[in-house]
Amino acid sequence: MELTPRHSDGDAGAILPAAPDAQSQALSAWSEDHLTAAQLRWMENEVSVLRRVVAKCTRDKGQAPVMYDVGCGIPARLFRDDELGSVIDSVQAYVGIDNEPATIEEARLLYGQRGRFLDPMDYHEALSAVEGGRAELIICLGNTLGTLPGDRTAHVKFMGQHADTLLISVVRKGPDVLRERIAYYEKNGINCQINWDTNIIHSDVWGDSLAFGEGEFAQFSAALREAGMTRVSLHASDPLGTVLVAQR
Ligand SMILES: C[S@@+](CC[C@H](N)C(=O)[O-])C[C@H]1O[C@@H](n2cnc3c(N)ncnc32)[C@H](O)[C@@H]1O
Repeated sequence: MELTPRHSDGDAGAILPAAPDAQSQALSAWSEDHLTAAQLRWMENEVSVLRRVVAKCTRDKGQAPVMYDVGCGIPARLFRDDELGSVIDSVQAYVGIDNEPATIEEARLLYGQRGRFLDPMDYHEALSAVEGGRAELIICLGNTLGTLPGDRTAHVKFMGQHADTLLISVVRKGPDVLRERIAYYEKNGINCQINWDTNIIHSDVWGDSLAFGEGEFAQFSAALREAGMTRVSLHASDPLGTVLVAQR
């Protein structure tokens, strides 16, 4: 496959041509057999943090939360039944939000019996329509935040304004994590451009994919407090990520 990551220093370097069908590539490239071993461990740990947060919401409110999933993709790991049961079985209801029609179609086909997937739309529109103005639990997994365009702090704040509890899982900055992220692009033959200074990986499939460090987490915490959250905490989801949890 000629689509190998091109390493560049700083901002320099041209972007290689687009893959033939970026949308269908995105759909398959996020399925679990396309992930690296490190990504799979990261996502397992992300789900462990989510399980603890769901349990806490349930204890605090005396009933399981309704969970909104921003940029849900094909949420296989949430619906998988393992020895602990699926995450979906521990919530009152699941609502998947994604703006890609093909993704929503596939998610409905696979999991539409057990969860609700809104018609394809931007998450701002979906969260603005939540009854009562706020969801009990909003999650944003798998570094979706790092692929949303625009001001990431504004995204975090908007989600915080619409949630009683918010959980956002992202990848961390750092050379070791960046190497592991690059391995994913290599494994899937996704052409990309890497900025070793900013840790941004650009591809036609995912656009810019950002990673986050202490500075960004401090900004997110401040924005969430402005949004009315009183407790903000960070949890490791090794080997690649950090999970930010905020509660009102
Ligand atoms: C990196 S994937 C993560 C998928 C899933 N959360 C996971 O962890 O497996 C990001 C997803 O967010 C969706 N997305 C991007 N921008 C969006 C937006 N503005 N509103 C809703 N969904 C969006 C994409 O279509 C894609 O499915």
